[in-house]
Amino acid sequence: MFFKTDALAQASNLQVDGKLYDTDKNLINAHGAGMLFHKGIYYLFGEIKKGTTWEVPNQNWEDYRVPAGGVSCYSSTDLKHWKYQGIALSPVTGDQANDLDTGRVIERPKVIYNSKTKKFVMWVHIDKNDYGYAHAGVAISDKPAGPYSYLGSSRPNGQMARDMTLFKDDDGKAYLIYASENNMTMQICLLSDDYLSPTTKYIRILENQHREAPALFKWQKKYYLITSLCSGWDANPAKYATANNIMGKWEQKGNPCIGKDSATTFNSQSTYVLPLYKNKGAFIFMADRWNKTNLEKSDYLWLPLTVTNGKIEIKSAETSVR
Ligand code: DGJ
Repeated sequence: MFFKTDALAQASNLQVDGKLYDTDKNLINAHGAGMLFHKGIYYLFGEIKKGTTWEVPNQNWEDYRVPAGGVSCYSSTDLKHWKYQGIALSPVTGDQANDLDTGRVIERPKVIYNSKTKKFVMWVHIDKNDYGYAHAGVAISDKPAGPYSYLGSSRPNGQMARDMTLFKDDDGKAYLIYASENNMTMQICLLSDDYLSPTTKYIRILENQHREAPALFKWQKKYYLITSLCSGWDANPAKYATANNIMGKWEQKGNPCIGKDSATTFNSQSTYVLPLYKNKGAFIFMADRWNKTNLEKSDYLWLPLTVTNGKIEIKSAETSVR
């Protein structure tokens, strides 16, 4: 039975399938995106993918790459009209040793606000072309849209960190969630009170399940984590896990996608789940439709997501719009 509420109707109204344009009619360039909601404004942050896609030679997988263009920021009050706010985290050129060089990998930026320090904190996956560096980078700003000052990167507790997301809990504690151990196992690490460094408190979850693209949200005291399988830029089935305690036991569930093309997450890969703040219980599942041989031309898929009795459902555009 189709679950229909005002919340779902609102989320359905915000669907995106394909391109997104800003208020200047330029294509929105914000991949592997995340969202910050601050003082009534939504801020969208994402990877700037610009330029020719190329394949890194001598890899045993399809390592397609595009110059790392830094992190973009767009703002909106209605999630429909997006104003370009500029580059939130700028790349540098001609300095291969610098984490932010355009020849490196800058992926999946996420931003949260620290109400104690009054700073906006960005975490982002920093890597080298062969993805062997596997670091988590952190940057800080006084303003939501930036510019952000880069503070550096590390492997939290010596652990690899690739695809990542951030989660700020109701008690103000924040967590970094990242694909680790060569993408075999995810980890969740509690951040320091200023959100600028990993603490030694971390857990290993979804062990040996080869998951990435984490998107974590909380609803009615339960935590939900959507992930993809690891298959480069190719789409695969999503799965979700649930937990009653973020640092507690996580239980892997099934595929949250329903209907045609659910086996490929509707030809996309998760990046974020956005709670709609004015309509509690409504969520948008945000995903990337990678165009692996022309990454700049990758599309976006935003779909309504419902949670009913602890079960996530994401339906494709055709079935969810009424
Ligand atoms: C899948 C990841 O989810 C992306 O963010 C990116 O790192 C690609 N792999 C690289 O192939």
